[in-house]
Amino acid sequence: MNILAFESSCDETSVAIVSDGRKVLSLEIASQIDIHKRYGGVVPEIASRAHIEAIHSLTSKALEDAKFTMNDIDAVAVTNIPGLIGALLVGVNFAKALAYSHSLPLITVNHIKGHVAANYLCSSDLEPPFMGMVMSGGHTSIIRVDSYTDYTTVARTRDDAVGEAFDKCARVLGIPYPGGKELDRLASLGNKEAIKFPVAKITDNADFSFSGLKTSVINYVHNNSQQGKDICKEDVAASLTEAVCKAVESKISFALDNYTNGSDKFVVGGGVCANSHLRKRIKALCEKRNLKLYLPEFIYCGDNAAMIGAQAYYEICKSPMSQDLTVNAYACNNF
Ligand code: KG4
Ligand code: ZN
Repeated sequence: MNILAFESSCDETSVAIVSDGRKVLSLEIASQIDIHKRYGGVVPEIASRAHIEAIHSLTSKALEDAKFTMNDIDAVAVTNIPGLIGALLVGVNFAKALAYSHSLPLITVNHIKGHVAANYLCSSDLEPPFMGMVMSGGHTSIIRVDSYTDYTTVARTRDDAVGEAFDKCARVLGIPYPGGKELDRLASLGNKEAIKFPVAKITDNADFSFSGLKTSVINYVHNNSQQGKDICKEDVAASLTEAVCKAVESKISFALDNYTNGSDKFVVGGGVCANSHLRKRIKALCEKRNLKLYLPEFIYCGDNAAMIGAQAYYEICKSPMSQDLTVNAYACNNF
């Protein structure tokens, strides 16, 4: 089954063709980073407009790269939840129109499930059940995956997502949006013990909280610059990353101790799982617990439509009924 998939939940317009949920036949990603950089973050209305401008030509390119016409497509899939509502609506309406005009089934996909499904594209042996985690600019959740379509969120962030905290801390250090990747590089050059940043103490469940850490970093930078002191960006990056790693390690451990489905696999997805320090620490944790760790290749960590095509395949296998054209986009869900 060849699925033409769309992703437009935030600041990447992406179109992909995925065969049987596992093989990427083509993948186009148009990033809007250069557009949003001057504002220090994503401006929703500008994002929606940029999606509209990009989506048609990316679709033609995705078909061309796969040497396909619409006659080779068996279904159309699109992210409809969660994300920026205007941005989501561009993808949803484009996918609806395409599915209707070509009499193809339409499948809506949850973006968070897509981030987990990115691993199906990289690891042919991966099958549920497993425990998983998504860390991105908008989400930080630990998820129990009992089948390809049955997901239970066992922990989420109570405030900022980890990527949001990284990006806002980077901004106060003068690093352009999105600063997560640059903080990763700087952290490798700094001393992680230099500054003691706080790790939230939520002890009775696996929920995360990163807003206190973010505020603490911002206060550290402001206080030191007001006193005319030099700020070592490398040390701030390393100490911040250390606090994030400690939080992630302790919450994964809590979730595995209390909510596991007994699987010996741990699966991670989302833009922040590109972070080299987090990857190392989660790898070490999984080795200690005899868990097989699955991480996507870098191209599939951030937002992309191939992961949506992967998840859509399993959604349509479970419920072959097409979504009807009243299907909508939603900004929030429980993940
Ligand atoms: O999954 P994603 O592309 O978009 C959302 O669904 O939010 O994740 C984007 C996030 C941004 O916050 C970005 O700074 C972060 O992923 N990111 C990183 C790294 N690469 C991207 N954060 C830390 N270290 C990285 N290497
Ligand atoms: Zn994402």
